[in-house]
Amino acid sequence: MTEIPEHLLKRAQAAKAKATGEPAPAEAPAAVAPAEAAAPAEAAAPAPVVETPPEPVAPYNEAAASRKTIPWWAASALLLLPIWAISYVGTLERPPQEATGVLAEGQHVYEARCASCHGATGAGGSGYALADGEVLATFPSAADHVVWVARGSDSFGLGNAYGDAARGRVVEGGMPGWADVLTTEELIGVVLHERAVLSGSEEDAALAEALDHAIHLGELDLHGHLDPATVTADEVQAILDSVAHDDGH
Ligand code: HEC
Repeated sequence: MTEIPEHLLKRAQAAKAKATGEPAPAEAPAAVAPAEAAAPAEAAAPAPVVETPPEPVAPYNEAAASRKTIPWWAASALLLLPIWAISYVGTLERPPQEATGVLAEGQHVYEARCASCHGATGAGGSGYALADGEVLATFPSAADHVVWVARGSDSFGLGNAYGDAARGRVVEGGMPGWADVLTTEELIGVVLHERAVLSGSEEDAALAEALDHAIHLGELDLHGHLDPATVTADEVQAILDSVAHDDGH
């Protein structure tokens, strides 16, 4: 048997110790690998174990190795994210050309100021139903309708009649007046929204279009407020007539 050079033996032992996690044995135990068993006793003895230092790991590699991987559920959520984003953006798009001008403004006002009591579609709540012709039955005249919304229950006075006599409405209270809050344009807009959109009046839809036309041409400016103390149906009717007559050509 050829003599194994001592430094090779030591290296082998050191490597084995490193691999098994045990310290390099001072003397070779009886029942180990044949090469070790055959080695002379002094071969194993004094050798200081030369630890090969671990390869230096760059900090960025170390971070990557110790970082937690993405859990499976998060991975699937990430996969669905673009789908969610696309459908979410879809919901943000306004309905195409549903209403513009005075009616669009009126719808906006209705949703913000009136829907809480009269229902999102005008089906009613703590306030009367306005849809399906209901509000047209109370107010055959748009001008009367505007005056009512401008003034509200308190201004009319509890127990007083309002609207069409045949409808028989009596003020019971609870309807706020809006002339101080809304501009004349918003007030007429929300009234025409109730009439044209919620109650399906084509006449009022045409009126809204005529108003838009006049506002667009600069013939009409409704940015002021009606005075709830003095407003009359005649005053409102004059505004509506000023554009209704324009509509002929
Ligand atoms: C706080 C609740 C409330 C809000 C907000 C409200 N209303 Fe009313 N509305 C009522 C009540 C209550 C009545 C009945 C009033 C009465 O009897 O005095 C009423 C009556 C009406 C009527 C008469 C309906 C009928 O057939 O007699 C109209 C039109 C109307 N409201 C329009 C509006 C508009 C337009 C808005 C938003 C600008 C609005 N309301 C906001 C409670 C509300």
